[in-house]
Amino acid sequence: MLRRPRRNRTSPAIRSLVEETHLTPDHLVNPLFLVEGEKVKSEVKSLPGVFRLSIDEILKEIEESMNLGVQSFIMFPAIPESNKDKTGTYSYDPNNFYLEAASTIKKHFPECCLISDVALDPYSIDGHDGIVRDGKIVNDETLEVLAKMSVAQARAGFDILGPSDMMDGRIAAIREALDDNDFSDTGIMSYTAKYASAFYGPFRDALDSAPKVATDIPKDKKTYQMNPANKQEALIEGELDTMEGADFLMVKPALNYLDVIHLMKENFDLPIAAYHVSGECAMLLAACRNGWLEYEKAMPETLLSIRRAGADVIITYFAKDYAKLVGR
Ligand code: PBG
Repeated sequence: MLRRPRRNRTSPAIRSLVEETHLTPDHLVNPLFLVEGEKVKSEVKSLPGVFRLSIDEILKEIEESMNLGVQSFIMFPAIPESNKDKTGTYSYDPNNFYLEAASTIKKHFPECCLISDVALDPYSIDGHDGIVRDGKIVNDETLEVLAKMSVAQARAGFDILGPSDMMDGRIAAIREALDDNDFSDTGIMSYTAKYASAFYGPFRDALDSAPKVATDIPKDKKTYQMNPANKQEALIEGELDTMEGADFLMVKPALNYLDVIHLMKENFDLPIAAYHVSGECAMLLAACRNGWLEYEKAMPETLLSIRRAGADVIITYFAKDYAKLVGR
């Protein structure tokens, strides 16, 4: 035999010499769930090990994470029902605790990268990412709210905004509003190919943000989030987001969409982010808790697969655990 691929697998030193994919804590983003109040730390039932945190606890979490080498965070708010309405006005209220928390975080940790969530669902009594009228999600009116929300978030100190709403034209609307208000340095990580997935369950539990059940409210997000059967369509979204001024293109979820991550990496020059979503993490945790998989091996292999598919950046609830495992 002339060709023996096993020769390059002989020892750890040789294996590391020919290792093709590298994943370090530098590539990871740690998601945070913010709640109002103080000294709150309540575990998300469907996502063990992940907590809803008040700002004082969030500061501790950020410090611990930064010490492990994970310096980027994406923060989501759990908004009390009493602050929700049809058009999400609380999202740009100057007294909004999410915006206050962002300012506090950037004051304590100016060197961290803080990413926001731009969408109506945490603030909407209907639980949708856009404004609901006559049983429909109205696109262009939603853009006006998203633009106001974005300027408020930039003002609060977020480094990068994360529009997760999937309305048409939102990146252009947000970019224009930011530039008009002197926030030309605030970046946009667009949820470019976000699918209408069954894997967001634990996240919606954490924020209590699932679409409400009523006859005049669409029961799912299929008129704005993408059909899991489609791949070509991700290229259309990618082209639009690139032209409209996005700084990152995201694919979400990650594991069931590794082919889409690969496709985006091949077709666009912008950095590609992948969101390893709550349901994907919950699945692995459940198997590990049952003793069916070994966490310390299955978790890094999973994250590596997302990176190998082409993700430059990975948002994952396992960010800190991965950093602990591999060191800095
Ligand atoms: C909503 C939003 C969702 C997630 C991030 N932003 C849920 C949804 O679209 O219903 C899901 C993240 C996760 O499951 O970890 N704007």
